[in-house]
Amino acid sequence: MDATVNERPLGGRETPPPPAAGGETRLSTVYVYEAPVRLWHWVNALSIVVLCITGYFIGSPLPTLSGEASAHFLMGTIRFVHFSAGYVLAIGFLGRIIWAFFGNKYARELFTFRFWSPTFWRGLFAEVQWYAFIKPRPLKFVGHNPLAQFFMFWVMVVGLAFMIVSGFALYSEGAGPGSWQDRMFGWVIPLVGGSMQLHTLHHLGMWMIILFVIIHVYSVIREDIMSRQTMISAMTNGYRSFRDDDPQ
Ligand code: HEM
Ligand code: HEM
Repeated sequence: MDATVNERPLGGRETPPPPAAGGETRLSTVYVYEAPVRLWHWVNALSIVVLCITGYFIGSPLPTLSGEASAHFLMGTIRFVHFSAGYVLAIGFLGRIIWAFFGNKYARELFTFRFWSPTFWRGLFAEVQWYAFIKPRPLKFVGHNPLAQFFMFWVMVVGLAFMIVSGFALYSEGAGPGSWQDRMFGWVIPLVGGSMQLHTLHHLGMWMIILFVIIHVYSVIREDIMSRQTMISAMTNGYRSFRDDDPQ
């Protein structure tokens, strides 16, 4: 498998290989997402699904069941699963930050959205036009496209950090004064005006994440089919393939 790519600089961002001479179809492949990034992606996705389902039921509890609460412990189990998935999410997030220092340059893209670069914004608006069916051909990117990178930064870096901080602050109410959750995150509760306000913000965060996931899953499936560059397999085996008989 050809793991090299002819690079043409585009404001510091790579572009895929140019079309093969003579116009024949050639499939070029680049190794993009290393194993820790892929592992984190799927663990993170799974824990978010679990957190959204259990979080929804914490916010809108099921009707009371008959019998002793201790006999079924339904809400207790839902909260336990939520907190466990919360720990998995938080540890995974920390691991992902650490990997950004050791991994390849695509491992850093999630955290480095280049708001100062006109090339970045041109790429972002070109992607908007492509998604809106205005532009007939997609741009090709070896790593994340600028539109994806923009939303991933705001929702999956800033947003997830907020969910983790607010989640552990809420957890500190149960863990009690003096617990590490209280010492590290307890200050967030008075900062936002109280427990009720923090519950509401944490809850609102969930809907932002759900919105992101719906758009994200739609986009990767659409791009996989329409953009002549692989998406889902890139997040599965790490390699992105381009059909480069398609001049941009
Ligand atoms: C809760 C569900 C999901 C969440 C929160 C999520 C989140 C993310 C994040 C944060 C990234 C950036 C990865 C990085 O740079 O480290 C990403 C990339 C990606 N995700 Fe997901 N994801 C979810 C579900 C899915 C599903 C179901 C698929 C497949 C159908 C998928 C396919 C991809 C692909 C292909 C990329 C790479 C996109 C690119 O190359 O630009 N994701 N996702
Ligand atoms: C994607 C991440 C997360 C989502 C979508 C999420 C979602 C939710 C939702 C919707 C609620 C109910 C809020 C309400 O209406 O009162 C909630 C409560 C809560 N979450 Fe999360 N959460 C996430 C991450 C975390 C994390 C990382 C922790 C840390 C352990 C955490 C701990 C809690 C706690 C302690 C509560 C309050 C439980 C209670 O009052 O009974 N959450 N979460």
